[in-house]
Amino acid sequence: MTTRICPSILNADHSRLLEEIDRVASADLLHLDVMDNIFVPNQTFSLQECREIIEHSRIPVDSHLMIANPDEDAIAYAEAGSASVTFHFEASRNPRQTIAQLKSSGSRVGLAIKPKTSFEAIADLLGEINMLLVMTVEPGFGGQSFMADQLPKIESARAAISQMRGELPWLQVDGGISLETIALASRAGADTFVAGSAIYKAQNPAEMIAILRVAAEL
Ligand code: DX5
Ligand code: ZN
Repeated sequence: MTTRICPSILNADHSRLLEEIDRVASADLLHLDVMDNIFVPNQTFSLQECREIIEHSRIPVDSHLMIANPDEDAIAYAEAGSASVTFHFEASRNPRQTIAQLKSSGSRVGLAIKPKTSFEAIADLLGEINMLLVMTVEPGFGGQSFMADQLPKIESARAAISQMRGELPWLQVDGGISLETIALASRAGADTFVAGSAIYKAQNPAEMIAILRVAAEL
């Protein structure tokens, strides 16, 4: 299984964000947390700021939309050049349609579920997406503790994916991923790991990316 490390710039130093982005160029994807202060009680980058980040980043950008109306608004993040757009199942009235719309724009499509949403709720959409994001914290803030009670959900998702044929969806985890927790998520079946504080609090983010990658593959 290919391991992918996705640094989240949520808790990077926003006063010198472009430099912070350059520090993680050895990662696989740059994780861009978009929050609208409605779906979650926090607000981050505007669409224009996202465009600038995407333009600047040397690695593909994975936009994680924590927004209230992805059915209307997600497409703009694909058009802004995101390599992958992930929206929340809980916020969507018509996930099938939004998935199809994003796909036709050429971006990869991820579907995210919050800790209280079961895998079964989205199981029938698994064949239509490129990535399932199992949140391992309540979305909204960086620096929270990893919720180990999400591990069985990751296992269920991996079991279902292993029954599939063709191009398999990636299984991403986001929230509280550190040197201590990445192995738990990996053993449960995750292959794509978002890490914010673990990478940006490290003295050397590039070195931490390499160490996390090794820890995930142990
Ligand atoms: C939380 C965000 C995460 C966050 C992760 O709602 O979706 O991507 O930045 O931060 P850490 O790794 O610090 O938990
Ligand atoms: Zn995120």
